[in-house]
Amino acid sequence: MLCDDKFAAVRTAFGSRLHSADLVAELSDAPNRARKGGTAIQPLILVSHRKQRVGCTQGRNVPVHFLFRRFSAARPRWSEDSRPKIPLLPGQTGLHSALQWHWDLADVPGEISTGQDGEGGGMIHRFVFHNGRLAPFEDVRLSPGQAGLLNGSGLFTTMRIVEGIPFAFERHWKRLSRDAQIIRCPFPFDAEKVRDDLAELLRANNVREGSARVYVVHNKAGFWRSDEEMPEADLLIYSADLPPVHQAVRLAIREHGRHAESPLAGVKVTSWLNNVWNLAEAQNAGWDEVILLNERGEISECTAANIFCVQEGRVLTPPLSSGCLEGVTRSLVLELGPAAGIEVEEQTLFPEDLYCSDEVFISSTNRNVIGVAEVGGHATKAPLGPVTKRIEDAFVAYVRDYVDAHAAVPGER
Ligand SMILES: Cc1ncc(COP(=O)(O)O)c(C=O)c1O
Repeated sequence: MLCDDKFAAVRTAFGSRLHSADLVAELSDAPNRARKGGTAIQPLILVSHRKQRVGCTQGRNVPVHFLFRRFSAARPRWSEDSRPKIPLLPGQTGLHSALQWHWDLADVPGEISTGQDGEGGGMIHRFVFHNGRLAPFEDVRLSPGQAGLLNGSGLFTTMRIVEGIPFAFERHWKRLSRDAQIIRCPFPFDAEKVRDDLAELLRANNVREGSARVYVVHNKAGFWRSDEEMPEADLLIYSADLPPVHQAVRLAIREHGRHAESPLAGVKVTSWLNNVWNLAEAQNAGWDEVILLNERGEISECTAANIFCVQEGRVLTPPLSSGCLEGVTRSLVLELGPAAGIEVEEQTLFPEDLYCSDEVFISSTNRNVIGVAEVGGHATKAPLGPVTKRIEDAFVAYVRDYVDAHAAVPGER
């Protein structure tokens, strides 16, 4: 939804705590969303009275403060009384450069996916795989007797789809099978069969860029199950759009968000309420994500991302003993950083360490690496600083090589 409600949110926040980077992020995501809805983009740019320079992607600076919006038609979608009071200045140089930037991003090659919902917003695509069968989701039904479905005994992983290729499939599969051992979930699945099923799913949903999830449900975990004939574990595969792109995020802080000493710390189980709830609470309060501290007050991770800071050129991230997930992206940052000439180390971190860092960034499959503009009310020194940028570049190059290597293998597309 890129219309009245978002605009109202901007108006409410205008001149207050909403960070300009959020709006740049909104703008950069407009082409994605427009493609989902199959609508044309009509950019509108609101020029603020504060002509602050804001950093944005691709090394450009946009000399306007607030940038906005697309419509499905040329007709603005706000009502008379909510019409912006800020002058729109079409002749302004900054407006032009921002427009240019917008259209560059809008000109993203690729097909319009017919499997996507009109608004994005986390909707899964129509076709899913369930126990080796491809079907529209309305034809897939799970049973109340599958105990693990309701008691959260199951696992999942989220993969990024790049040019139709599931990026880092092997690493995700390794984590899934390791986690299955930890929670003693039967895992009689074959990686190559699942990879083939996933490829078929992506074709059915017409996904070239997006994300995919593999879920394993332990059907016979605990009590309150039925005596139906069913496998020990169900395997489901979904695809969905990528979440909105943020160029820089603002992070809240939540104490006791992770229990580092729990044997399930770092296991990607389907009982995900702690993450879903903490994220929703943070977003309701106006933040993008939230840093979860463990019982010792150490930084662990975010609800769906690992966290890093940069101090004197060194990149630091909390160790797994903090209770964080061993993110695939995190592992790659640890591997790729040194190869790019950047020291990357695991180190116990506290919130104060972030406040005095030169740069802070988070990492996750769907978002690669994102700069952090603010941590719990403390503005960071550089939302997308030079070290973060070098890490991001190394990561993007690795993704490119991976996709090229896997696209060359017949049957993987
Ligand atoms: C709690 C948590 N931490 C970290 C991550 C990042 O992991 P990855 O890089 O494998 O996506 C995720 C991903 O969703 C997550 O849910």
